[in-house]
Amino acid sequence: MKVLVTGGAGFIGSHVADLLIANGFQVTVIDNLVSGNRGQVPKAATFHEVDITDERAARLVRESGFDVICHLAAQIDVRKSVADPAYDSRVNIGGTLNLLEAVRQSGKRSTRFVFSSTGGAVYGDLVEPPTAEGAAKDPQSPYGTAKLSVEYYMGYYARVHGLETVALRYSNVYGPRQDPHGEAGVVAIFCNRLLDGTPLTIFGDGKQTRDYVFVGDVARANLLAATRPLPPIGALDARAFNVGTSIETDVVELARLLGEIAGTKGEATHAPERPGEQRRSAVDVRKTKRVLGWEPKTSLREGLTETYQYFAVRREGARA
Ligand SMILES: NC(=O)c1ccc[n+]([C@@H]2O[C@H](COP(=O)([O-])OP(=O)(O)OC[C@H]3O[C@@H](n4cnc5c(N)ncnc54)[C@H](O)[C@@H]3O)[C@@H](O)[C@H]2O)c1
Repeated sequence: MKVLVTGGAGFIGSHVADLLIANGFQVTVIDNLVSGNRGQVPKAATFHEVDITDERAARLVRESGFDVICHLAAQIDVRKSVADPAYDSRVNIGGTLNLLEAVRQSGKRSTRFVFSSTGGAVYGDLVEPPTAEGAAKDPQSPYGTAKLSVEYYMGYYARVHGLETVALRYSNVYGPRQDPHGEAGVVAIFCNRLLDGTPLTIFGDGKQTRDYVFVGDVARANLLAATRPLPPIGALDARAFNVGTSIETDVVELARLLGEIAGTKGEATHAPERPGEQRRSAVDVRKTKRVLGWEPKTSLREGLTETYQYFAVRREGARA
């Protein structure tokens, strides 16, 4: 099977590409390297440094006859989407439409299009977590709005043009290769602070919760979404699947656990609450288990230990 992984030089995309190769898929990666790292693309993959908004990306899709497209390339920074919504929409809506149109034009309707959406940013604070797919949508940022818009576009392509589209709504993904310089990767940021011996910064009272899911589990969700039979096309949520653990962990607890793993007290300083920050978040994954046969396998402690060790080894390597 021929698979295109967009964003395959990035954090989650590189793990998806690794897992697909390990399962015998022939993988092509496209990435413009704006935040990705060429070194993370698996050696067995064919790599093209191409922007998803570019005609060259569309041509590659039209001419390659991919069986699956795992679409992970995106502008992922919520704050950047607030500062520059037009850029966010050009990449996250425009770039995705460029690929969907190319699939339509290729005439290969069976191409499975697996989209990386977000459970953290489409539901908002309206309902008690864990939130099921059918819950009201209330994106609070241009980023969440763009991801949800793409899901509606995919519904159109599935209904009107018969495309095989599926959306995975991830909660907060963490693990090896996450960019510690980004805004989102609290686990990566904390790991690096602990290795530096500098205090962790906790915004507000630290009681805000998130659903932390390990990147290896997210890669497996992509593999299953790429290969399992899909439910019939229906309303927005019919082909959308939450990917998380359904467990809420607050920032104070996260800092405590990581401190324990690092063998320190995980000293923390409190900074003012960030305006507009969601209070609680976790996704209900029962439908994903029932339909795709997916459930998380990595406990938070196991995943955090692996992640901490990854950053520790990387630091040793950089020193040597
Ligand atoms: N990390 C999370 O917790 C999380 C949660 C929900 C959804 N997601 C989604 O998962 C996907 C992967 O996120 P990630 O955390 O691995 O981020 P990442 O920044 O590590 O990966 C994104 C990749 O896309 C590439 N890219 C960006 N713009 C591009 C463009 N115009 N053309 C080609 N390539 C481009 C980047 O260079 C990078 O390699 C994204 O779609 C993101 O929205 C992530």
